[in-house]
Amino acid sequence: MRTANREDLPAIRDLLAASGLPTDDLAEQDLSLFLVQGEGEPLAVVGGLERCGSAALLRSVATAPAHRGRGLARTVVAALEARARSLDLDALYLLTETAADYFQALGYAPLDRADVPGSIRESRQFADLCPDSATVMRKGMGAPDRG
Ligand SMILES: CC(C)(COP(=O)(O)OP(=O)(O)OC[C@H]1O[C@@H](n2cnc3c(N)ncnc32)[C@H](O)[C@@H]1OP(=O)(O)O)[C@@H](O)C(=O)NCCC(=O)NCCS
Repeated sequence: MRTANREDLPAIRDLLAASGLPTDDLAEQDLSLFLVQGEGEPLAVVGGLERCGSAALLRSVATAPAHRGRGLARTVVAALEARARSLDLDALYLLTETAADYFQALGYAPLDRADVPGSIRESRQFADLCPDSATVMRKGMGAPDRG
């Protein structure tokens, strides 16, 4: 697992597109907050954070079909959560159409869009790229009393 760089963009785009996830806003992302495994194409797994004020979107989590079920996504999510804590972020939010049960098992809880902070709602994933039917989920990153 390593930090992504600009040269990984085509392979990241391919893996996300093949996984049914948005790619339109990838070029504008801070790839130092994205993790990948694999050199060049095809990548085995990708996942990233998009900072939005004191929180972040956990986004673009995808494992190539041939590599699923080996804990790669779980490892990426754990590493991104550690990064979020090191950045002192309050919480991670995500949008998913197909993997709500997966993220619930990792400690994410569904919430109403009305309860999502404005900084997250203004992200392109929220504002235009993810369908309204997507489930919004949240996990607090602070000490337990900070939620
Ligand atoms: C969801 C996804 C990232 C999981 O990747 P992975 O590397 O196979 O996940 P892990 O190996 O960490 O976990 C595998 C476990 O999760 C379960 N799981 C996988 N996808 C799931 C889903 N959509 N819903 C519920 N459980 C799921 C598997 O059955 C497996 O369970 P087991 O450990 O009891 O056998 C992968 O299936 C994927 O890329 N899906 C398409 C993209 C997507 O929906 N991303 C999430 C939105 S950002």
